[in-house]
Amino acid sequence: MRKNIVAGNWKMNLNRTEGIALVEAVLSKLPVDNKTHVILAPSFVYLHKAAKICSNIPKVVAASQDCSANKKGAFTGEVSASMIASCSARYVVLGHSERRVNFNESNELLKEKVAQAFSSNLKVIFCCGESLKQREDLVHFDWLKSQISESLFHLSSDDFANIVIAYEPIWAIGTGVTASTDQAQEVHAFIRNLLVDKYGNEVAESTSILYGGSCHPKNAIELFSQKDIDGGLIGGASLNADDFVAITQSF
Ligand code: PGA
Repeated sequence: MRKNIVAGNWKMNLNRTEGIALVEAVLSKLPVDNKTHVILAPSFVYLHKAAKICSNIPKVVAASQDCSANKKGAFTGEVSASMIASCSARYVVLGHSERRVNFNESNELLKEKVAQAFSSNLKVIFCCGESLKQREDLVHFDWLKSQISESLFHLSSDDFANIVIAYEPIWAIGTGVTASTDQAQEVHAFIRNLLVDKYGNEVAESTSILYGGSCHPKNAIELFSQKDIDGGLIGGASLNADDFVAITQSF
């Protein structure tokens, strides 16, 4: 059985005091019988503190929003996977469209980042998604296939168990325009089929595939009820504890 996961991507928001207050608010509002795997991805600056606060809470862990493609050394401003692991984070988000677009991250670079993450025993939330133009030009399936296959399909089945995929159509991120449930389910089923073809049913059926893009408490229940949608990667709504916790309970 694959996991239901809701991850909060805080992006470059909240100072340390605000960030820690949000971690505490989320934890205080999660029901005691919470069954969802919850991942919080705050800024590097207080990742360690956030991870420590979560460390005794079942099913709640911290993630970084990126990691370096290099192991160590003269890369001013970069943060390595081993540094992230030493802060007690368990996951790293890789390939978010904001990094692909604003920082020119290629499929090849992301392959290297995945390797770094795995070498420090971090699990990866791997983001993929098409632009509006690509969807209108009907090339989105080919695009998604290349994003996933070029960065991930060298992995063994065993390593793939440490991958969570997040489908985030760029046109839905932070825009208030959510993919319809049919659009999202169609892409999630496509991605799962790619995994069936490459790794077989067992891996495909045990990989969690999250939806991201203007997901909020009002649309999460319908999205998460779809056969191939196993949760969400939440941006804006993750900055509000009530909304984020409501989304975590939308299965
Ligand atoms: P959004 O962002 O929920 O604000 O659309 C999602 C994301 O970028 O991960």
